Amino acid sequence: MATGSSTARARAVSAPDISGRKTAIREGGEPLVMVTAYDAPSARVVDAAGADMILVGDSLAMVVLGYDDTLQVTTDDMVHHIAAVARTKPRPLIVGDLPWLSYHVSREETVRNAAALVRAGAGAVKLEGGRKRLDAVQAILDAEIPVMGHIGLTPQSIHALGGFKVQGKQLDAARALVEDAVALAEAGCFALVLECVPDGVARLVTDSVDVPTIGIGAGRHCDGQVLVYHDLLGFATPGHRAPKFVRRYATQEADATEAVATFVDDVRGGRFPSSDETYHMADQMLDELGLYGSSSGDDATASNATR
Ligand code: KIV
Repeated sequence: MATGSSTARARAVSAPDISGRKTAIREGGEPLVMVTAYDAPSARVVDAAGADMILVGDSLAMVVLGYDDTLQVTTDDMVHHIAAVARTKPRPLIVGDLPWLSYHVSREETVRNAAALVRAGAGAVKLEGGRKRLDAVQAILDAEIPVMGHIGLTPQSIHALGGFKVQGKQLDAARALVEDAVALAEAGCFALVLECVPDGVARLVTDSVDVPTIGIGAGRHCDGQVLVYHDLLGFATPGHRAPKFVRRYATQEADATEAVATFVDDVRGGRFPSSDETYHMADQMLDELGLYGSSSGDDATASNATR
């Protein structure tokens, strides 16, 4: 897409672009990468880093809004954050997460909520659950909105599952996951998130569906990987130990704390602001105000009032 400036911006990634990658990935091509983002700065970082998809996940609840689980965010919350991400006009596909209870009540409510995320700027929506959610998936697809499925550990079912636990460890549960995945893919989902399942189960699922699988805590046999922005950058969620599948690529919470503490020290110690960080008055005005040579700064002779 031409922008009118000398730098042409790359065309945004679409849901069909993502589903169309399956064959190439299975033949040894590069896996897909999705990273969450919730606002303009994080969207710019994920875009500049070259990811294929930005997930505005309902993990928003925990990593940004300070709730204990994902059940607290609403469609309005998601709209607010998707819009902030979309305003950066990123190249990656924006996937908006449908929050808990936004697709469980009726087809009509489901479609309206999915449409609200699209109007905010999402190019696709994600919802949690397997065969149980086929009706919701169909309703959204009927409104021409691409749907990403999400099976395995589905955090919106935290109470029903009895905690954040690896799923599909027993034979029946593993078979059920494969059947869920096949049903979602056959219904028309363009990709599937597999969360917290043994790598063997992820491999079975990945081999059984003709759309890409995006793993989180699902091992290396998926067609792509997703991590939560704050997890990979080293922000802690109070009360939650990082799961073993999180690889931290930075220590941004510690680095930010150190930077802010240095600022606090500088202010208290009189080292901030310096003369260079200050707007100065012209000498003549200082003179007329009787401030010349006073405490107006260590550079009271500055002659450029705009500095
Ligand atoms: O909300 C989220 O961040 C997610 C990912 C963990 C896949 O659903």
